[in-house]
Amino acid sequence: MTTGASAAEPAAAGVAVAELAAAGLALTVQDAVATITLSRPERRNAMTPSMWHGLARAGSLVPGHVRVVVVRGAGPSFCAGIDLRMFSAEGVPGEADSLRPGEPGFGASIAEFQAGYLWLRDPRFVSIAAVQGHAIGAGFQLALSCDLRILADDASFCMREPALGLVPDLTGTKPLVDIVGLPRAIELCLTARTVGAAEAAQLRLAELVVPAAELDAAVGDLTAALLSTDAAAARATKALLGQAHGHTLEEQAAAERTAQAALLAARAAGAPRP
Ligand code: ACO
Repeated sequence: MTTGASAAEPAAAGVAVAELAAAGLALTVQDAVATITLSRPERRNAMTPSMWHGLARAGSLVPGHVRVVVVRGAGPSFCAGIDLRMFSAEGVPGEADSLRPGEPGFGASIAEFQAGYLWLRDPRFVSIAAVQGHAIGAGFQLALSCDLRILADDASFCMREPALGLVPDLTGTKPLVDIVGLPRAIELCLTARTVGAAEAAQLRLAELVVPAAELDAAVGDLTAALLSTDAAAARATKALLGQAHGHTLEEQAAAERTAQAALLAARAAGAPRP
C-alpha cells in the first residue's frame, strides 16, 4: 500500500500490497484520500471471488483519517463484470471452485462477496466511482455502491445479470431503485440494456459527465470540494442523510437534533477539528 501522511507498518503494508495485487487490486492512500484501482485491464477488470474478497480487505485497510475513497478501473473499461470464465468448466486459473447452489454455505459465500461492496457506504468517508468505458453487471453494482459517480463521456452502464440467467446480487438493486425509481429499475434490469453516459446523467446515475481526458481532474476537483468542509460535520451529515429514506419527517427531525447535539458536545469536549 502506498501511504501518504500516516504509513502503515512497512512489513504489514508490503503483505497487504501483495495480497491486493494478487486479487487484481491496488490501494493507495494519500493524506485524506484513498484510491482503489481495479488493475486487470487486459480482462477489462473482470471480477473474481478473489477480487471481491480483496475489495473487502481493502476496505479494512482504509485508515480512519480518510475522508474520500475513489474507486476506479485501469485501462479502457471501469469493469466488465464477473469473469465469465467462472461459468466455464475450466474456471479461472488460480481461483478456488465456487460453491454450487444448494451446497451448504452458498448464501454465506455471496454475503462474503457483498462485503466487498457494502463498506463503501461507510459514513466515515464519501466514496466516488470514477467510471470510464464499460461498467457491466458486477461492475455497474460496484459503481452503484459508491455514494457518487463521475462518468467519462464514453462510460456506459448495463445490468446484464438477468440476460445471463442471474439476479444482481452484489448490493446494487437497492441503490438502483433508490436512484432511478422502481419502474425504470425494472426496465433497465429486465431488458439488460446499456445506458450511455448522457442518459445516465438524466437518470441521476451520474453526478457529472466529463470528457474522458478530464475524468481524473473532475474527480480531483470534487475531492477537494468534499475536503473543504468540516470533517466531523461531514461524517455526521452523511450518516444523517443516509437514514432519511427510512424515516418519517418526525423521526428525521429527531435524528437531526440528536446528531447536532452529539457533534457539538464532541467539539466542546475537545474533539479535534481538522
Ligand atoms: N470475463 C472474462 N474476460 C473478459 C470479460 C469478462 N467479463 N470481459 C472482457 N474480457 C476479456 C476478453 O475475453 C478479452 O480477452 P482476450 O484479449 O484474451 O480475448 C479482453 O478481456 C478484452 O475484451 P474485448 O471484448 O476484446 O474488449 P472490448 O473493449 O472490445 O469489449 C466489453 C469490452 C464490452 C466489456 C466486452 O469484453 C464484454 O462484453 N465483456 C463481457 C461483459 C459481461 O457480460 N460481463 C458479465 C456481466 S454479469 C455479472 O457481472 C454478474
